[in-house]
Amino acid sequence: MKIAMIGTGYVGLVSGICFSDFGHSVVCVDKDPQKIDLLNSGKVPIYEPGLDALMAKNVAAGRLSFSQDLQAAIDGADAAFIAVGTPTRRGDGHADLQYVMAAAEEIAQAARDYLVVVTKSTVPVGTNRQVKQLIRKTVPSLEFDVASNPEFLREGAAIEDFMKPDRVMIGVQTERAAEVMAEIYRPLYLRDFPIITTDLESAEMTKYAANAFLATKISFINEIAALCEKVGADVKQVAKGMGMDNRIGSKFLHAGPGYGGSCFPKDTKALARIGQENAVAMQITETVIKVNDEIKRRMIQKLLDLCDGSFKDKIIAVLGVTFKPNTDDMRDAPSLTIVPALIGGGAKVRLCDPQGRHEGEHLLPGGRWVEDPYQASQNADLLVILTEWNEFRALDLKIIARKMNQPKMADLRNIYSAKDARKAGFESYDSIGREPFSKEPS
Ligand code: UDX
Repeated sequence: MKIAMIGTGYVGLVSGICFSDFGHSVVCVDKDPQKIDLLNSGKVPIYEPGLDALMAKNVAAGRLSFSQDLQAAIDGADAAFIAVGTPTRRGDGHADLQYVMAAAEEIAQAARDYLVVVTKSTVPVGTNRQVKQLIRKTVPSLEFDVASNPEFLREGAAIEDFMKPDRVMIGVQTERAAEVMAEIYRPLYLRDFPIITTDLESAEMTKYAANAFLATKISFINEIAALCEKVGADVKQVAKGMGMDNRIGSKFLHAGPGYGGSCFPKDTKALARIGQENAVAMQITETVIKVNDEIKRRMIQKLLDLCDGSFKDKIIAVLGVTFKPNTDDMRDAPSLTIVPALIGGGAKVRLCDPQGRHEGEHLLPGGRWVEDPYQASQNADLLVILTEWNEFRALDLKIIARKMNQPKMADLRNIYSAKDARKAGFESYDSIGREPFSKEPS
């Protein structure tokens, strides 16, 4: 199959590279000349484990290329995937569809023969029909079909998610389009991964419903964590007990400083908006969003309590700024709210993250970047764990405590315990949904 992938952002790049690894011939197209130059020089502009090697392998095999020339990429293509951004539109919470529509129009103008125009970007229900209308209006004589093929990739595990998906959702209107899509996903089909073929709207809706449900699990456990703190329960034990019920499942029940990233915040807002437009109140999703916004304030209060009510002149070491480990992505990361509150309150903040510095330097002005957690904790008054990178999971807490001016820890990802902290010589330790520990000064 010959595939044109429009957009070399996260989803487009991972999908394009993985499709080429299936054996298809893929051209990834982007308007940004710098990005295309970078890709053509063999460099991947995002941090995603394993992606650079997979890209090199398929470029060498002659199946994968990068270009600004959409016209040439569409020529002879069996399918054109739209994987451009759909940011939240400023002011009204709508997904901004201008890039999707512009790509659809360009594909229509470039196409000569039948092809399937597939939307991979997360788009509101009804968008694929709009894409169809736009293409028909642009070039009435073109033979084509549209398909919805939402992506469920997790950053940091994207290749694995693409190659071994829980399921693939394909929304189509015709048998012909279904056949093209089945051919594209044949390698997965042969290995018995479930491929669900539906109408366009169900495929579009599944993506929002799945992400909103996962976000609900997180906000739910975060709310339970707040209550655990008041009643003396341990949210890790509670989540374990809940998760062993097969109907609930153990995943996405880790309490923390709130969900972030490129999908959950944007998709929950878009779903609430779609509900409003259709006069169906998305009450659960709206509450999930509210709980997630409020949690950051609770985190800041926790840190303030550990700093005896004021951040002024405190040295605070922050470990992790990305929204989760194994990514350099900082979109909607809790650090973007929490770190400015510390700096705004007069703290001297030291930042440390295995991949976040490049992005973080612009996004978190006023913080001082250091190489490792040990350097970060030198003379510090508080250590804050914000992202649970593996690099932070097995620190020598004794050394850290000794280096600190006041050995206090806020473990906002629950990777240590009060017992660990006490043993290492910390004088205070607080985490999420578990009893804090505080040694009275002797
Ligand atoms: C998510 C979905 O998992 C994926 O299917 C979808 O297509 C895109 O959005 P991603 O944004 O890469 O993927 O991250 P994910 O691993 O799902 O985590 C999202 C956020 O939730 C992170 O901020 C993470 O720290 C938080 N989270 C996750 C929790 O706070 N607790 C959990 O138990 C799980």
